[in-house]
Amino acid sequence: MNICWICSEAAPYAKSGGLADVSAALPAALAEKGHKVSVFLPYYPQIMGDFCASAPVCFKLLEVPFGWISEWASIRRHRVSDNLSYYFIEFQRYFDRPFLYDYYGVEFGDNAERFTFLSRAAMQAIVALKLEPDILHTNDWHTSLCNVYLKSHLYAKSPNFAGTRSVLTIHNIGYQGIFPKGNLFNTGLGWEFFNYTCLEYFDQINFLKAGIMTADSVTTVSPSYAREILTPGYGFSMENALQHVHFEGRLTGILNGICTSEWSPSTDKFIPHNYSAADISGKSMCKAALQKELGLSNKPRIPLVGCVSRFAYQKGIDVLAEAVEKLLIHDNIQFAVLGAGESYLEAIFSDFCRRFPGKIGVFVGYNNLLAHLITAGSDLFAMPSRYEPCGLSQMYSMQYGTVPVVRLTGGLEDTVFNYNPEILGKSTGFTFRDLYPQSLANTIRWAAGIYKFKPAHFKKMMLNGMGQDFSWRHTADIYEQLYKKNIERR
Ligand code: ADP
Ligand code: GLC
Repeated sequence: MNICWICSEAAPYAKSGGLADVSAALPAALAEKGHKVSVFLPYYPQIMGDFCASAPVCFKLLEVPFGWISEWASIRRHRVSDNLSYYFIEFQRYFDRPFLYDYYGVEFGDNAERFTFLSRAAMQAIVALKLEPDILHTNDWHTSLCNVYLKSHLYAKSPNFAGTRSVLTIHNIGYQGIFPKGNLFNTGLGWEFFNYTCLEYFDQINFLKAGIMTADSVTTVSPSYAREILTPGYGFSMENALQHVHFEGRLTGILNGICTSEWSPSTDKFIPHNYSAADISGKSMCKAALQKELGLSNKPRIPLVGCVSRFAYQKGIDVLAEAVEKLLIHDNIQFAVLGAGESYLEAIFSDFCRRFPGKIGVFVGYNNLLAHLITAGSDLFAMPSRYEPCGLSQMYSMQYGTVPVVRLTGGLEDTVFNYNPEILGKSTGFTFRDLYPQSLANTIRWAAGIYKFKPAHFKKMMLNGMGQDFSWRHTADIYEQLYKKNIERR
């Protein structure tokens, strides 16, 4: 199959979260299965660093109709293998910035323009490069306008898209791309698209909703999240649109995989000592290195809880902060926290560092090396998410023998099996449902208790996690089936 994947970020070029990891690993897994995959994303010269050099211009003057004029962009290409290429849309006014979506938490004021431009430019690029895709796969609100374009007068009759079916993956329904309706003008779509079956949303335009209504298939990144988003509690007011899609049989939940070449304790280049399930001795050395790195007291037997996360409402970091404060005051537990986002949360955690030296180490910012070290060096890993479409970090931590403590929601519910001494062979983590600081604190206490007083059970859980197969192979098969089903229907 010929697949065009369109997204706003992809590792290792530009990353803010899991979407980038998925946009690296799934296209690669599909290419490995013999499909031709072309990934489109913006060229971010200030973010991509050394990768800029490996992406020379392959198409110079790409016409992108925008509002009442045409803009001109270039396409750069990084050819990863015969089957896999990353194409970067170069347009400095929108993408030559130090961050992807915001400036220190304040959304760029022109995000509607930026991602309208990306979507239109990707469609133009596919035509210019004569790719003739079988599948156009878009991701989140940033690129969901492509699903609309495909069905619109602008591209529906283009021979280049004659056999194309479209798939939209929702990685996070909390971000929808809602803007004043005046932004419709730049899209090149007329007012006939401004109605409740497409872009209109409470008299504004909603990019994600339009994608949901027009894509041939809608997927999300875990089966549990696919069920949750049909309810008002999790649907962020998209639940009605999604129920419609669900009744038509167009909605599926497909659990993400993880990139085992980047996230494996036996080969990880970022950790000081490699280890595996056969010999986990290197893990305690990683713990010592982590304690040193973050200024924690060097105590091998105190349970160390790690957390690597965007500091966003979604992640329940506010609840974590309250729980951690209780535990720092009353318990003998250490914490290693890495994250950035909401500035009040950054300030709270930095303050803990001053108040409880040696017990908590905090790094505010984005740091991939430290993310790996925390994943390897911690005993437990906390993810108290309010909602979690899939979550990758809990799977990374299990691969590293770091036992996750998670709230039962979305992908966390689908990947972590609660500790139960009677089914110890299946147990991989500690789970709780009510998102209160007390529930989280008590679950961490429970986990720390098993770590200290039932070390054999704890070790078995570590090994259970390390033995799980979270690789993309299986997931890529499911996407392949979905694509095939779509193609058969054309
Ligand atoms: P989300 O995409 O919602 O942020 P995921 O669990 O799917 O959540 O993916 C998060 C990814 O981002 C993981 O690869 C994690 O290691 C990484 N990450 C999050 N915050 C940071 C940070 N401050 N520094 C380095 N990596 C981070
Ligand atoms: C989003 C979600 C996260 C998911 C990731 C990749 O950022 O918040 O749960 O793992 O996308 O699909």
